[in-house]
Amino acid sequence: MSEALEGVDDAVNRIFCADCLAGMREHLPDGCVDVIVTSPPYNIGVAYDNHDDRMPFERYLDWMEEVAAECRRVLKEDGSFFFNIGDRPSDELRSLRVADRVRRHFHLQNTIHWVKSIAAPEEGVNMGHYKPVNSRRFLNNCHEYIFHFTPTGRVGLDKLAVGVPYQDKSNIGRWKSARQDCRDRGNTWYIPYKTVTGAKPHPAAFPDRLPQMCIRLHGLGQGGGLVLDPFMGTGTTAVAARRLGCNYVGFELSREYIKVARSRLGAGGLFGV
Ligand SMILES: C[S@@+](CC[C@H](N)C(=O)[O-])C[C@H]1O[C@@H](n2cnc3c(N)ncnc32)[C@H](O)[C@@H]1O
Repeated sequence: MSEALEGVDDAVNRIFCADCLAGMREHLPDGCVDVIVTSPPYNIGVAYDNHDDRMPFERYLDWMEEVAAECRRVLKEDGSFFFNIGDRPSDELRSLRVADRVRRHFHLQNTIHWVKSIAAPEEGVNMGHYKPVNSRRFLNNCHEYIFHFTPTGRVGLDKLAVGVPYQDKSNIGRWKSARQDCRDRGNTWYIPYKTVTGAKPHPAAFPDRLPQMCIRLHGLGQGGGLVLDPFMGTGTTAVAARRLGCNYVGFELSREYIKVARSRLGAGGLFGV
């Protein structure tokens, strides 16, 4: 199923148990990746298997910038880099500070708000989950960012691949661009977590639909192309890539998380460490 990709054949459809900086330098030539979807450690004290998520913040910013530079090197000129990051309720500017460092190497083309929970009971809407904050000062944090970075800021997207039906059907045909019952979803994406009972295999995995929507928005919904996740965790990005008929490559420090990714991806030669 995997196409030969010049210079990266040995790295296609593999999750390497390796540091992502070292791994990208060793395995990925310049400009070989179409889409990057990733969620790095947020440095907010999450208990990962073998990563310390409490670095001094300036060191964390330097690290994120180094990862961004390496992502820029491996990404094609017309590629997309979807960078998911969230805040603590008590520190709402940290994501923006990280994004500002990534921006030294990319153009910020879109800012997507990943909405995990939305309550508008007046409109009959009350959906989703969030981690409740135990505070009288701070509201529960119900969203994270997906910053969409590109090398030029001018990368064409397949917006209708993640489009939604028109609410007012009379708009179809009224505008030149509205030829079918599908409109731009906009930059607020409601993607709830599944309800999990029992121990989670990973403390900070994103929902399957998140990387799928990013890959489709970029225009790889019909398959082909190489998708990278430098912080692969339990393989959610790889699963999304395979479902859409794309190739994947990724890096992850924890063998335990890679084992979970292996079982999610299944047998059949789709996986190698
Ligand atoms: C937010 S999680 C990613 C979760 C993933 N999106 C999923 O759905 O499972 C970040 C991951 O980065 C991994 N990690 C931390 N430092 C790393 C490094 N230097 N190189 C590669 N992976 C690293 C952690 O072990 C953790 O699994």
